[in-house]
Amino acid sequence: MKKLKIGNIELNTNVVLAPMAGVTDVTYRTICKEMGAGLMYTEMISAKGLYYRDSKTADLMKINEKNRPVSIQIFGSDPDIMAYVVEKYINNRNDIDIIDVNMGCPAPKIVKNGDGCALMKTPELAGKIINKIKRVANKPVSAKIRSGWSADFINASEFSKNLEFNGLDMIAVHGRTREQFYTGKADYKIINEVKKGVNIPVAGNGDIYSPEDAVKMIEETNCDAVMIGRGILGNPWLIMNIVKILNNDTDFFEPSPLNKINMIKKHAAMLVDELDEKIAILEMRKFAAWYMKGMKNSSEIRNSINKIVREEELNQILDEYIEINDLK
Ligand SMILES: Cc1cc2nc3c(=O)[nH]c(=O)nc-3n(C[C@H](O)[C@H](O)[C@H](O)COP(=O)(O)O)c2cc1C
Repeated sequence: MKKLKIGNIELNTNVVLAPMAGVTDVTYRTICKEMGAGLMYTEMISAKGLYYRDSKTADLMKINEKNRPVSIQIFGSDPDIMAYVVEKYINNRNDIDIIDVNMGCPAPKIVKNGDGCALMKTPELAGKIINKIKRVANKPVSAKIRSGWSADFINASEFSKNLEFNGLDMIAVHGRTREQFYTGKADYKIINEVKKGVNIPVAGNGDIYSPEDAVKMIEETNCDAVMIGRGILGNPWLIMNIVKILNNDTDFFEPSPLNKINMIKKHAAMLVDELDEKIAILEMRKFAAWYMKGMKNSSEIRNSINKIVREEELNQILDEYIEINDLK
């Protein structure tokens, strides 16, 4: 695969980490970067939150210089507010490489305000948002969309052409409608239709859980990059294995139970460096459960981890697990 350029930003690999609220924080992005992610996104950030200088919103904008290129994902539906926050709070951030606009979030509390995937029902407004942001932005601008709103409202192809017309530099397409949320199967045909209709890079997104799935996505859609979401939950090694297969190397790394336990320890230590210890260990609960999914006695361990709030206790539980199961 040829190296992808988004505006002036060149990617080292065409394997992209999808934005995931509550997951792709600064710590997890460090892990995914080590695995070879070529582009990563922040969690979605409210443009209004930025506008009103909400402190939690500012936390979401933390970037580790080593984890670039990184795209900041904003959501909203007021073109003026969005352009304002770009000009005032994003342009001056030299550690942010790309500005992404969320046009795919299906959550009721988001779409009821006309944000996220609701923008696919108001294509003119979506175009205006990109247009206004492009006028002020000093970085490339991308968007992340779905196939459409519902089975009888599939408009990703026209929608993306309109965004390109308004200056968009890259688009990521999740092949599901808003109505599907995360159910059913991603429709790769619609991603291929988007790709055929635009000249900007297209990242194909949806249901990539193995290196072979990534190849299927590329073959069926002709997309320029693959974007991985849920497949990396508990399995950041998937990124490395996809990078391998795209370089015709099928000598995949299969993490052993010990690799996974060691990753939990490493991940927790990194989170503790970043956050208050208690918050970090509470946050680790879901990550540990994902890493341990399918492992022997994983539910018992999960129950123990769900009772603790200190890193030392976490490491103790994990060390006992290693010993009892004689992991090497
Ligand atoms: C927990 C979770 C949080 C997500 N948060 C975001 C988000 O903040 N912004 C966004 O554009 N998409 C978000 N998504 C959607 C993913 O980026 C991706 O489009 C979707 O999961 C489909 O890809 P997958 O099949 O590889 O998971 C989220 C998905 C999940 C599962």
